[in-house]
Amino acid sequence: MKSIGIVTGANGFLANNVIKTLEKFCEKIYLIDISYKNEITNGKLNTIKLDVTNETKVEKFFNEINFGNYTKSILINMASIDYKVSTDGADFKWNIENADVKAIKKSLEISLIGTFLMSKYFCKQSLKNEHHSSILNFASDLSILISNDTVYGDSNNHKPIDYAISKHGLIGLTKYFSVYYAENNIRVNAISPSGVRSNQNKDFIDKYSKLAPMNRMLEAEEIEGAVEFLISDKSSFITGQNLIIDGGKSIW
Ligand SMILES: NC(=O)c1ccc[n+]([C@@H]2O[C@H](COP(=O)([O-])OP(=O)(O)OC[C@H]3O[C@@H](n4cnc5c(N)ncnc54)[C@H](O)[C@@H]3O)[C@@H](O)[C@H]2O)c1
Repeated sequence: MKSIGIVTGANGFLANNVIKTLEKFCEKIYLIDISYKNEITNGKLNTIKLDVTNETKVEKFFNEINFGNYTKSILINMASIDYKVSTDGADFKWNIENADVKAIKKSLEISLIGTFLMSKYFCKQSLKNEHHSSILNFASDLSILISNDTVYGDSNNHKPIDYAISKHGLIGLTKYFSVYYAENNIRVNAISPSGVRSNQNKDFIDKYSKLAPMNRMLEAEEIEGAVEFLISDKSSFITGQNLIIDGGKSIW
């Protein structure tokens, strides 16, 4: 059985771990990101510069790739606005009183409308070509929690509201699609990683680690097993679920 894979947000920090995992399953992979400078194809991996919120372009993309050559398909939705903590710490000078509604709308549009559009046209092609398919949406532990801003070490730093509300919404979207296509061999799940360790400053890493019973942050490689499980046939009776990868953080 030949498989086709599509990843959005494929130029981001976690993308390589996801692409590496997807390569085990797919003969052809389309990597989508708005930030690509050039489009590159090497036969198996193809980068596409695409804004997932542009319906005309999303539809055109799905019409131009040949789903008919494959029997299985996988879509991984990762595109979002993800606020990073750097070596200098967090710089989230955000509060409800002065919030920029345009920025909130933009973020919700990428996470929710972008995921909706990619999933809509993916499912259309999948149904038309009678594929067995799997969609995996990247949420966050903030799909079930609100950020504990004490980790930023400055009472003026608040993680912007759009992140948590878009990730909470993504779980609703995941459940809706999973039920809608449940009888069509299309499974739809989400994963919810907590903060992944990168180049954050030591104070942040120490404070964040203490939020989890395992007393550390997540390593990027540790998402690979969850991705592999949820896109593979090993999870063939699992749909509409949100797998939380957080070292127990959400239990406390
Ligand atoms: N890094 C973490 O600690 C962490 C933790 C939990 C969940 N997540 C989630 O996992 C996913 C991947 O995280 P990451 O750290 O790689 O994020 P990232 O910010 O590094 O990458 C996101 C990518 O999405 C792309 N993008 C933004 N708007 C787009 C649009 N309109 N069309 C197409 N592409 C667009 C960006 O160009 C970027 O390359 C995100 O959804 C994030 O919220 C990340």
